[in-house]
Amino acid sequence: MVKLTSELKEYARRRATTGRYADNLEVDVLIVGAGFGGVYLLYELRKRGLNAAIYEAGTDLGGTWRWNRYPGARVDSEVPEYELSIPEVYKDWTWSTNYPNYQELRAYFDHVDAVLDIKKDCAFESVVVDAQFHEDEGKWHTKTEDGRTAKSKYLIVAAGFAAKRYIPDYKGLETFEGIMHHSSFWPEEGVDVKGKRCAVIGTGASGVQISQEWAPEVGSLKVFQRTPNLAVPMGKRPLSVEEQQNSKQWYHRLFELREHCFGGFLFTWSEKNTFDDNAEEREKYYRSLWDHGGFRFWLGNYKDMLFDEKANREAYNFWAKNTRNRIGDARLRDLLAPLEPPHPFGVKRPCLEQNYYEQFNRPNVDIVDIGANPIEEFTPKGIKTKDGTVHEFDVIAIATGFDITTGGMTNMGLRSIHGTTLKDEWKSAANTYLGTTVSGYPNMFHLYGPHGPTLLSNGPASVEVQGRWIVDAIQKAERENIKYIDPTPEATKEWKDRINYLSNISLFPTTKSTYMGGSLPGKAFEQVNYAGGIPAYVVEIREKLPGWKGFRVVK
Ligand SMILES: Cc1cc2nc3c(=O)[nH]c(=O)nc-3n(C[C@H](O)[C@H](O)[C@H](O)COP(=O)(O)OP(=O)(O)OC[C@H]3O[C@@H](n4cnc5c(N)ncnc54)[C@H](O)[C@@H]3O)c2cc1C
Ligand SMILES: *[C@@H]1O[C@H](CO)[C@@H](O)[C@H](O)[C@H]1NC(C)=O
Repeated sequence: MVKLTSELKEYARRRATTGRYADNLEVDVLIVGAGFGGVYLLYELRKRGLNAAIYEAGTDLGGTWRWNRYPGARVDSEVPEYELSIPEVYKDWTWSTNYPNYQELRAYFDHVDAVLDIKKDCAFESVVVDAQFHEDEGKWHTKTEDGRTAKSKYLIVAAGFAAKRYIPDYKGLETFEGIMHHSSFWPEEGVDVKGKRCAVIGTGASGVQISQEWAPEVGSLKVFQRTPNLAVPMGKRPLSVEEQQNSKQWYHRLFELREHCFGGFLFTWSEKNTFDDNAEEREKYYRSLWDHGGFRFWLGNYKDMLFDEKANREAYNFWAKNTRNRIGDARLRDLLAPLEPPHPFGVKRPCLEQNYYEQFNRPNVDIVDIGANPIEEFTPKGIKTKDGTVHEFDVIAIATGFDITTGGMTNMGLRSIHGTTLKDEWKSAANTYLGTTVSGYPNMFHLYGPHGPTLLSNGPASVEVQGRWIVDAIQKAERENIKYIDPTPEATKEWKDRINYLSNISLFPTTKSTYMGGSLPGKAFEQVNYAGGIPAYVVEIREKLPGWKGFRVVK
């Protein structure tokens, strides 16, 4: 029998009673989450003389990279674009590769702490379960699972898009007698899989990375696939210290550039549409993106790729041709890289891979097509599919992802000034203003979550753009002696229309995906990201600040 860990709450523990762990903490700003978002905010708030603290459910800094320690966990944005733009931090830091793994990202966060002294303002293993703004007092009261309360004028939710894990409600799950974990709650000490019969359920980024890592090592591997991941080559390579040190003189320009690129990377859409080029030119262009590796083939492609079905099909065909020729077995080839697209290319976030497809040329690696033959139940020995087969396993990795983007915010007990809960309010649809505030939740801000560029962007780029806006808003409110700001329902409605409009003109609404709210049963099918790109987003949110446009302001 296994007891699967599935809730942040299960990690709550009272670590200390003093400092940021005190029972009645009072600060100007309370931040929830100590990943890129929380760290960046704390740094910026301190610079402006505000007293801020972080509550973090995990045991240390790093957010995503503290939790996601599954085999093969690795970033798929390149460095240096996937790091903080803070000169004190990047000055003395170098990476071993352009796509670091979670261990190296953790070391990076240790370095961040050594330089910025972040942890002295953090309380770890502190899981926020309840928070409400008291209008009379003008303060948030925020409670942790172990019973502490913090009071703060401002509350910032920096909980990322993956705080709430999703495990489908499989029949008999708890009867399985082998080893089984959700990818994002993988045990710190790891799992020995040498020679073992292993399963990976799900082929999102985590599933692809685990499969790629496990295949050479395990006795046998079955990958349970519902939809193929249209993964593209990573282009991972070693980075030398000299190469990095020599380019540091340009880093300040690189970090400016990433905010001028659609996805917050160091490249953006081509000026051209797909059919501006003839077939031969197109092939050559695709090839150049492909050979470079990374997300260029996705967010650096022809500018109509995510908007025009015919254009998209050209990109898909190139992807399929170049992927199919890596897979020897005809059945697996059709499952992994079908000739007919399962959905338009890039409307689900493609994963970056190194030798994922080659793993399926091993005799001990196979796919179970749960699109055609769904999982019926878990048994003590393994997994039974609809066709009656019982697949026996020693180890199962559940890589079914998250209650994506909104789940973090809807699962921390946020209550509005109208007595409603965010969880109930967002059942039918998520509503924010500017992807940074929510009506009825005064002086609360969020970033890298619903209605920001979030999943359509390089994380640190979004975090810094939104983080600066939030800190500037707080500073402005302080200067103007404002008690609280609260976005109006009308402005919220307008922003929602804007989110939907930007999505509707693209191919995103054609497909159920993380962009459209994820695969959680019963969750609203709707766009949860700002799909207009980072440069446009910056302009839109910035122009609201000078006159508090769209906010009710209470002095
Ligand atoms: C497996 C994986 C791979 C990824 N790869 C990439 C990539 O290659 N490129 C990219 O751009 N992005 C990637 N991302 C997204 C990644 O999350 C961001 O790049 C970045 O780490 C976001 O930082 P953050 O601080 O906003 O959120 P996180 O890093 O997610 O940190 C949020 C923190 O909030 C804490 N928290 C949440 N709820 C509570 C609560 N109720 N109480 C207390 N604490 C709470 C969590 O414990 C977590 O530590 C990946 C995400 C995952 C899950
Ligand atoms: C977006 O498309 C949906 C579904 O077709 C429609 O209901 C909605 O009104 C559209 N919204 C905007 C703002 O275009």
